[in-house]
Amino acid sequence: MASNKKILFLPGDGIGSEVMAEVRRILEWLEASRALGFDITEDLVGGASYDAHGTPLTDDTMNAAMNADAVLFGSVGGPKWDDLDFSLKPERGLLRLRKEMDLFANLRPAIVFDALAEASTLKPEIISGLDIMIVRELTGGIYFGEPRGIETLEDGTRRGINTQVYTTSEIERVARVGFELARKRQGRVCSAEKANVMESGILWREDVQRIRDEEYPDIELTHMYADNAAMQLVRNPKQFDVIVTDNLFGDILSDEAAMLTGSLGMLPSASLGAPDGTGQRRALYEPVHGSAPDIAGRGLANPLACILSLGMMLRYSFDLGSEADLIETAVSNVLSEGLRTADIMQPGKAKVSTSVMGDALLRELDEIGA
Ligand code: IPM
Ligand code: MG
Repeated sequence: MASNKKILFLPGDGIGSEVMAEVRRILEWLEASRALGFDITEDLVGGASYDAHGTPLTDDTMNAAMNADAVLFGSVGGPKWDDLDFSLKPERGLLRLRKEMDLFANLRPAIVFDALAEASTLKPEIISGLDIMIVRELTGGIYFGEPRGIETLEDGTRRGINTQVYTTSEIERVARVGFELARKRQGRVCSAEKANVMESGILWREDVQRIRDEEYPDIELTHMYADNAAMQLVRNPKQFDVIVTDNLFGDILSDEAAMLTGSLGMLPSASLGAPDGTGQRRALYEPVHGSAPDIAGRGLANPLACILSLGMMLRYSFDLGSEADLIETAVSNVLSEGLRTADIMQPGKAKVSTSVMGDALLRELDEIGA
């Protein structure tokens, strides 16, 4: 048997640990029925880490993440930590992981499950069958650019500063990820920036176009201003296949795309680094939903986004595409059977708790994957 895959669990705050408990059960199922081995270790991040160690991410945990084959991340944050200094906020733990693991490519699929097409705020015909992949640059741009800070001018006026900055190599590597994904999908990439007002946007557009012309002539590339992309996403989302965009626009457009599906609680994501000599990439997988402190600890959370994040881990880190397919099919079937956690509840469906949703999924896996 191949050596066990090392997975670091970082449940974080709020509903993180509840949804991750269900992922653990799926991994146990895979071990029992697929002769796979996983070594799972668990650590603190975010507010939970701050409470225990006075920092949202310790160096030990950072090291553990660097040495894992993949990290599964829950969610961070909550009102309890709102007044902390900026450098100690739970979110800083996540940003440090992204930066130090160099996870520059953030894959955020927005998929409408047939059974949930009615849950969107958009008309079913606009979104049914929707399958978009947003590739967000994750380690550059205004999130990390220098100079940054809040300063006080001589006359006492305060000034807040952040800097949007991209180098050609940062743009090229994320563009390649988008083009590679498009090759396995419908072969279309839309690149979004604000080249009409930002020099970094002009560079972005030129670099993406050049990579397409030199390396991916088979891919259809279009460019869109990010504000127009935001508008097109609600007007006619199915025009998109892969969207490649920077860190800040990607943050915004991916929330918008997630809402199109009517079920933020359903969406997974993957954050990938550059391949090493053996083709392995550092990787962190996380549900797109937040920590939902209002429902934490009550068995109400939807575990499916985290379980689908495990699916992405199997596909992108462990080359276990058929196991990933199996999980996705099981999720889709359980929804078709009418099971719903509170966040996606619809009239006439069966409202279930986090762990009952997990039970149903395991039953389904037994049925279709035994
Ligand atoms: C996201 C979140 C994060 C971000 C926060 C929690 C720092 O909104 O992953 O989209 O802005 O990147
Ligand atoms: Mg966001």
